[in-house]
Amino acid sequence: MSHTRKRLVMGNWKMHGSFAANAALLDELVAEAPQAGDAEVAVCAPFPYLAQLQGTLAGSPISWGAQDVSIHTQGAYTGEVSAGMLADFGCTWVLCGHSERRALHGETSDQVAAKAATALAAGLTPVVCVGETLDDRDGDQVECVIGDQLEPVLALGTEALGRLVIAYEPVWAIGTGRTATPEQAQAVHAFIRQSLTQQGAGQVRILYGGSVKAGNAASLFAQPDIDGALVGGASLVAQEFLNIAAA
Ligand code: 13P
Repeated sequence: MSHTRKRLVMGNWKMHGSFAANAALLDELVAEAPQAGDAEVAVCAPFPYLAQLQGTLAGSPISWGAQDVSIHTQGAYTGEVSAGMLADFGCTWVLCGHSERRALHGETSDQVAAKAATALAAGLTPVVCVGETLDDRDGDQVECVIGDQLEPVLALGTEALGRLVIAYEPVWAIGTGRTATPEQAQAVHAFIRQSLTQQGAGQVRILYGGSVKAGNAASLFAQPDIDGALVGGASLVAQEFLNIAAA
């Protein structure tokens, strides 16, 4: 099997953490990260803790990112955080269009693509999240839904696509303990890969997310088009997260 793309294992802390809890988690990650194998390891934290990540992870192999970014570069947008602000103090990654933001904040696929473009312009690497609901899957609409979510992102063009990451996170597998089977995930990853390849961007990394644990990571990573994981709950437990990275 040819796996030329460097594996990426990214934690999404979502709205969890405290200064003290983060310090304990990060200390353990930093101490043990060198044993986590060849995978690139990253964590995405709530905005107030990004400075803590900047300080604690400096000089470590672990990179860090935010969970959202504004479409706008600056101005009267109370509560928003711009890509330039994130880049200003060394942020590498930003999640764009996580399903929780699509569902709870009404983010459209056009807005998600605009966020990715803004992030790219500031030198950040967007991790664009796509995924279908259980109704979509039961209705045999998976490729249709994912295709629609991808369309404005693909329209960003080959050069932009070459600088981003896609995360496939089936909504029904997020936080439910019900992970997609490796075959189910691979089928969608192959579809996404094909869409990217048609735009000349077949080497984009595609992460899987949704109830990834140390116990199921290896079988997911064995699939040819799965290039790593976007990990929610299990990224809050240092040893579990590191075991996923080592899988
Ligand atoms: P869980 O790993 O908790 O299912 O969350 C997945 C996710 O949404 C990561 O962004």
